Amino acid sequence: MINFFFKTYGCQANVADSEGLASFLKSIGCNDVTSEEEADVVIVNTCAVREKAEQKLYTYLGRLCIMKKSKQFMKIGVIGCVASYKRDEIYKRFDLINFVYGAKEDYKVLESYLADLIVKLETTKQVFDDSGVVIEPAKNQDRDIKKVVQQGPSLLKPSRMMGSMGIFKRQATSKSITTRSKELNRSFINIMTGCNKFCAYCIVPFTRGREVSYPMQEIIDRVAHDVANGSKEVTLIGQNVNSYKDPETGFMFSELLRRVAALEGKFWVRWVSPHPQDMTVELFDVIAQYPDRIPPYVHFPLQAGSNAVLELMKRNYTIEQFKEQIGWLRTRMPDAVISTDIIVGFPGETEEDFEQTMKAIEEIRFDWIYSFNYSPRKHTLASRTMEDDIPQEVKSRRLDRLQSCQIEIGAEVYTKHVGRVYEVLVEKRFNDGKLLARTPGNVRVLLEGPDSLIDSFVLVRILASSPVNLTAELVQAELTPEVPMAAV
Ligand code: 5AD
Ligand code: SF4
Repeated sequence: MINFFFKTYGCQANVADSEGLASFLKSIGCNDVTSEEEADVVIVNTCAVREKAEQKLYTYLGRLCIMKKSKQFMKIGVIGCVASYKRDEIYKRFDLINFVYGAKEDYKVLESYLADLIVKLETTKQVFDDSGVVIEPAKNQDRDIKKVVQQGPSLLKPSRMMGSMGIFKRQATSKSITTRSKELNRSFINIMTGCNKFCAYCIVPFTRGREVSYPMQEIIDRVAHDVANGSKEVTLIGQNVNSYKDPETGFMFSELLRRVAALEGKFWVRWVSPHPQDMTVELFDVIAQYPDRIPPYVHFPLQAGSNAVLELMKRNYTIEQFKEQIGWLRTRMPDAVISTDIIVGFPGETEEDFEQTMKAIEEIRFDWIYSFNYSPRKHTLASRTMEDDIPQEVKSRRLDRLQSCQIEIGAEVYTKHVGRVYEVLVEKRFNDGKLLARTPGNVRVLLEGPDSLIDSFVLVRILASSPVNLTAELVQAELTPEVPMAAV
């Protein structure tokens, strides 16, 4: 049997792609393992959003290639955003890498290619186990993915393999029931891919291409299928999830969310990652209408608090408009949990601009933030037309200030949970023995309890808070679907 391992960097879209491919590999008889050492196939799903992550990737690929020297039949593949724009460089730099396949390309073709690779690998591995000899394909012959698929038996052709599934032709097979034991059974479903916004700092429109939304009915069928197979949490994913538009009916994201929320079963629907420009009142109305189904958690990426910087970033909103939208959300759901993304040190960001970001953080009081130093990325408007003029020390000082301020805000915001009773979904057990669960608002909760609680909804009482976690005690296990969800 062939063992595979995924190393996934970056956003939820990457998580969804890796899960989909993993599900496909399991469906053709491969085995999911938890470390590179045990794996015959390692697939690295990459993120190009910041320079640092890319550097880490190269170090990791170097490690894999060393590992491959003592296990020569091992196959290493690189997929995702770095694969989109650095394919030739990766091939040149790492002779032992078998395939590189970009995020813009059709993952169904990749599945066909992997099916072929697995069949060949089974033989190679067997021969190696029996005789210690490696059958090597002609040098780098397996790098030409489209050729391998075209020349393979017709069974491997993507159109045949999709068969009756017929759904999500361009994305990898959605994850289904085959979760590792002792983990939450959840689904990540790409509902659209790509981005048309072209924020000045962002490489995604170049690595993932233009927006493509998948047909709404297919998404709904997929959610129903996954829920019927035990998924307790379904995450709808898109680089710009709320600019979704059904190619068949023209219905927008709020309608898709409403229809998914109206499906039968006991499950939560999450959605990432939105853009403020497409946040509508209707969307918040739908979320407020289905509190048991769509938990009141919204990731609301601000990026900067200064209108001058927002304009340079080409974000298409002002801080005033952003705050108004937060107001729409909080009037409907006063306790909504809100997180954001902030970039510091964008070209031209003055001290005064940065103070505007600090002010926004203090006023809006996000529950948590993801914050980054600006990093110039190839192809982007900023890297082509603006000088990266904020010195590294200034960026780091601003980031430190922002993060220290948020630690204080987070600590205060989190104390409001103490004493409350929540319905939480239990995800897994940490090595230190504690169970990890999340509130509807997506806040991490640590609790004691048996393994049987994993992959179930339970009621807990929050005992204490820290800036990143809540600790809780169990109030009631095994909730029936009739038990109403507690307030956020
Ligand atoms: N530099 C720093 N942060 C970036 N992000 C995207 N591109 C860059 C960049 N070039 C951040 C944004 C985005 C998050 C996913 O990553 O905040 O929302
Ligand atoms: Fe990047 Fe902006 Fe598109 Fe988000 S909306 S993926 S930040 S270009």
